[in-house]
Amino acid sequence: MEEMLQVKNLSKSYGNLTVLKDISFHVKKGEVVAIIGPSGSGKSTLLRCINQLEKADGGEVCVCGQTMFSSDESGKAVYSSAQILREIRLKIGLVFQNFNLFPHMSVLRNVTEAPIHVLKQPKTEAIETAEKLLKKMGLLEKKNSYPCELSGGQQQRVSIARALALHPEVLFFDEPTSALDPELTGEILKVIKELAKEKMTMVIVTHEMAFARDVANYVVFMDGGFIVEAGTPEEVFSNAKSERTKQFLERYHNG
Ligand SMILES: Nc1ncnc2c1ncn2[C@@H]1O[C@H](COP(=O)(O)OP(=O)(O)OP(=O)(O)O)[C@@H](O)[C@H]1O
Ligand SMILES: [Mg+2]
Repeated sequence: MEEMLQVKNLSKSYGNLTVLKDISFHVKKGEVVAIIGPSGSGKSTLLRCINQLEKADGGEVCVCGQTMFSSDESGKAVYSSAQILREIRLKIGLVFQNFNLFPHMSVLRNVTEAPIHVLKQPKTEAIETAEKLLKKMGLLEKKNSYPCELSGGQQQRVSIARALALHPEVLFFDEPTSALDPELTGEILKVIKELAKEKMTMVIVTHEMAFARDVANYVVFMDGGFIVEAGTPEEVFSNAKSERTKQFLERYHNG
């Protein structure tokens, strides 16, 4: 199977604080990888490095065979040309915890904005795609509403439609349900499960353990900036090797 994402020995510090150490994992086409771990373990920073919102210090990241950065002899990350970085950026999408919709734009414009202005799609084509995606998200009747007029779950579905409108090869989610009420969480998890069924390649940071177990092909447990353990859901959730993993999962079990 085709490699969509390769992360090798990625490291990142903020000043004296080492946040990511020697992070390596890869994602094949159509796979879903769940990243779990306690608060502060570096999950968001990892996603931000892969999505070019932060610069990594060292290691290597390749997206669909294109190198975003790799290390020189001293181990320092050397980034590819602006052109390649732009091409890579267009291959990946990120859905945030807090939706990050444009508040002054209608739902429809939130979804068509980047296709029209970044991909230079004709307006009619962008609108057609957006309406299709909004329909899929069950939100077509809300296309002229503004984000503030929607529930959190609806806003998150708009932001998923917005990410999908750019036809990403890999879609990243950073705790897509943690800002939502439990009732609204279910509707987002359902949408993500649907995407998994359609073989969308996804990397999902989540605190929803039952969901991770259900939807992921591969689970990565991070703590203190390291990958402590990684494997199939069965291996990580039922047969964890590391005491630290067991301890983390145990705490989840006990609420
Ligand atoms: N811009 C920044 N400057 C300095 N330190 C930062 C910055 N961003 C994150 N950190 C630190 O990096 C560490 C990892 O943060 P990160 O947000 O990646 O954790 P996380 O696993 O996503 O946690 P959570 O589950 O709470 O979202 C934390 O110690 C955090 O304080
Ligand atoms: Mg985070």
